[in-house]
Amino acid sequence: MTTTPFLRMENITKTFPGVLANNRVNLELRHGEIHALLGENGAGKSTLMNVLYGLYQPDEGQIYLNDRPTTIHSPDDAIAKGIGMVHQHFMLVPPLSVTENVMLGLPGDKGILLNHQAAKKNILDISLTYGLEVNPDLPIWNLSVGTQQRVEIIKALYRGAKLLILDEPSAVLTPQEIEGLFEVMRRLVSNGNSIIFITHKLDEVMEISDRVTVLRDGAAIQTVETQATTKAELARMMVGREVLFRLDKPPVEPGPVTLEITNLVVNDDRAVPAVRQLSLQVRAGEIVGLAGVDGNGQKELAEAVAGLRPPQSGHIRIAGRETTHFNSGDLLHFNLAYIPADRHREGLVLGFKLSENLVARNFRRRPFSVRGFLNNKAIKSHARQLVQRFDVRTPSAEVTAKTLSGGNQQKVVLARELSENPDLIIAAHPTRGLDVGATEFVENRLLEQRARGAAILYISTELEEILNLSDRIAVIHRGEIMGIVRPTEVTPEILGLMMAGTLHSAVEVPSP
Ligand SMILES: Nc1ncnc2c1ncn2[C@@H]1O[C@H](COP(=O)(O)OP(=O)(O)O)[C@@H](O)[C@H]1O
Ligand SMILES: [Mg+2]
Repeated sequence: MTTTPFLRMENITKTFPGVLANNRVNLELRHGEIHALLGENGAGKSTLMNVLYGLYQPDEGQIYLNDRPTTIHSPDDAIAKGIGMVHQHFMLVPPLSVTENVMLGLPGDKGILLNHQAAKKNILDISLTYGLEVNPDLPIWNLSVGTQQRVEIIKALYRGAKLLILDEPSAVLTPQEIEGLFEVMRRLVSNGNSIIFITHKLDEVMEISDRVTVLRDGAAIQTVETQATTKAELARMMVGREVLFRLDKPPVEPGPVTLEITNLVVNDDRAVPAVRQLSLQVRAGEIVGLAGVDGNGQKELAEAVAGLRPPQSGHIRIAGRETTHFNSGDLLHFNLAYIPADRHREGLVLGFKLSENLVARNFRRRPFSVRGFLNNKAIKSHARQLVQRFDVRTPSAEVTAKTLSGGNQQKVVLARELSENPDLIIAAHPTRGLDVGATEFVENRLLEQRARGAAILYISTELEEILNLSDRIAVIHRGEIMGIVRPTEVTPEILGLMMAGTLHSAVEVPSP
């Protein structure tokens, strides 16, 4: 280790039309350091790293490598300078093998066959050195997301990266896979590499980083030594105000079964079963957390219950009535709230005003419609009340939904879906992309609904949230329930094994 920092980014400013994504940001990276870049969604983390990786040129500011002013013209240039990046969305070619993917785009000089053999040996060496387990001959489509990520890391190391940028690598992993990744990261830095690790999760920052830089609204708020800070302090820097980390979850005596799913089979868009013979019950006054790695049938299950995707077989009953083949229109009479994972595509009409979005479900009813005419006064005052109650940060309810930040858009969806006192709530990733403060707000609204007697199916990939909120936890893997457990009787490790499909819970917890 030397005292000269490996990298300095000085006063980096990067704008997109109408957006100041990076505002005079400073970042310094030492040799052999794991440096966390922490910030909520939209804080400017990926943009800053894309500047470093040569994908964007900064409007202003200077990058120094080993104290020398450097311009990074392109990703190829970044790689030539020892900088590698693993993006949030992988850039691998599914039909090609691991070796072929690693070699892709590299000049070869010895003929294809010899190059291939040499590359494979090299990959195995890297794999062994850093504990990046992978079979070089397998095609990418055959690999789990965690393994694909390892291929991306190998690809960067193969090209000689000394600095690795990992953009939210933990977002797609199970707890065990995250531990594995951290192990790899430790080996990388002990071999003299440096890492910039992007995340919005405080626990991960505390566990793995040497230092952390917090970004908020495009600006670097502060850089601190991890050992000298706390989760609460980091949360405050990230959100800009105090965060309590406290949920009020009084015991609720569950009522009758509100949602009953039996032997359900639902296909995905490619007509392949994504939900397979799944059975699950949710009672009134109960939150059932559905835990799982993304893409294990959660989306198809939620859509089937909400009447947006017809099941192949099996049954769905809501409040005792068979709704298996009901569409979303039929379900309007069922007082069902659906908080979709993709609030842009399904949750809101972005070009419509908030007041219009807020009555999208009930504009045909009194007082919003009287004898076929819309009552604008009632619609507006309804919107004003909801904006206030759900703490939507907006100049008024008459602006279009697209002008709001993601967190506030989510609050609008929540306000609309929860204001009618639903009997059943299907909440798919309702806190995705929200900062810790907004997350807490959403969780508390759901707990209010539980206290009211709503049955809630809470779909999430965030184990901590699932453990905090749920009365029971169902773990889904490849469309099947691996087991149902109580949050008080399970650890994240056990949940992780179930999410990975390697563990069935020995005993099924009966619904209370
Ligand atoms: N290519 C782009 N064009 C326009 N706006 C962008 C682009 N990339 C990012 N932004 C905007 O810049 C801001 C910062 O985004 P980003 O760097 O992706 O944040 P983070 O990675 O911290 O979630 C956001 O408001 C985002 O919408
Ligand atoms: Mg990002």
